[in-house]
Amino acid sequence: MKIVITGSSGFIGYHLASELLNRRYKVIGIDNNNNYYSNLIKKKRANKLKKNKNFTFHKVNLVNEKKLEKIFLKHKPEIIFHLAGQPGVLYSLKHPKSYLINNVIATQSLCKISKKHNIKKFIFGSSSSVYGDQKKFPIRETFKENPKNPYAKTKLSSEKIIEKSFKKSNTDYIIFRFFTVYGPFGRPDMFIHKFLNSIKKNKKINLYNSGLNFRDFTYIDDVVKILLKNIMISPSKKIFNICRSKPIKTIHLVQLIEKIFKKTVKIRKIGFVKGEMLKTHGSNSLLKKNFKSISFTDIKYGLKKTIAFYKKYGY
Ligand SMILES: NC(=O)c1ccc[n+]([C@@H]2O[C@H](COP(=O)([O-])OP(=O)(O)OC[C@H]3O[C@@H](n4cnc5c(N)ncnc54)[C@H](O)[C@@H]3O)[C@@H](O)[C@H]2O)c1
Repeated sequence: MKIVITGSSGFIGYHLASELLNRRYKVIGIDNNNNYYSNLIKKKRANKLKKNKNFTFHKVNLVNEKKLEKIFLKHKPEIIFHLAGQPGVLYSLKHPKSYLINNVIATQSLCKISKKHNIKKFIFGSSSSVYGDQKKFPIRETFKENPKNPYAKTKLSSEKIIEKSFKKSNTDYIIFRFFTVYGPFGRPDMFIHKFLNSIKKNKKINLYNSGLNFRDFTYIDDVVKILLKNIMISPSKKIFNICRSKPIKTIHLVQLIEKIFKKTVKIRKIGFVKGEMLKTHGSNSLLKKNFKSISFTDIKYGLKKTIAFYKKYGY
């Protein structure tokens, strides 16, 4: 079975591709290796994947329909994991155009070609940010979305494009809303890796909302396991949260990291930042009901693995 992963040089795409290759699937990676964060990290991930003979890489921008068409004609994939995109909440407040291009237009282009080629399954990596600030917790998939920033708005628009493209087609589509994914080889623009880099460089780190925000951190291996299960399972529901459903206050996360790293870092507590959510706490009951025997990694164990990798490789 041939599987396309868009965003294969990215954090989640890389981990999914590695696991699929371990299981002897043929994987076609598409990524433009953009410069949103260290291009070196993306190249390192891509180079690791390229060592496997079952991996083919195309450095292509998804908005380029002609190049996409060529890739689809050549490889004839059956399954698409769409994990490419422009992430980052605060960056989206200053650079909204990049979100329109890399989330909305890129998804439109990929859906158009996938539809033309009658793809069997289309799986999309969406975000908990589409819920915005909610009053009730845990957040269920039925709650009304309330996107607060360009990132969240473009992720929700992408969901709508996918629904519209495949609702009346033979393509089985599914949308997963990820809640703050972390782990080894993680994104340097996200809090945990920013914090680790601050420890390394002995630099002060800003704690938004004085560290009182809650985040429902989800370990990368758990996300990959669920994405893999989805190859075999076709639930009738189309939208699922992927979260541990055990949020932690940022200030407590900081204490945990310092304890595991055995080093402290100077903290600058700053006020509330516009566009940021105060709390993410998803419900995973729909996911557990449909995907069966799913368990989530304890945050201490996940952090230990992340920090051990960071200490060994420096990223
Ligand atoms: N990591 C998280 O906590 C998290 C949470 C919620 C949602 N998500 C979503 O999951 C997906 C994967 O996230 P990630 O953490 O791996 O991010 P990432 O930035 O590490 O990976 C995304 C990859 O997409 C590529 N890309 C961007 N625009 C492209 C384009 N136009 N054409 C081709 N490639 C392009 C980038 O170069 C990058 O390698 C993203 O869509 C993100 O919005 C991630």
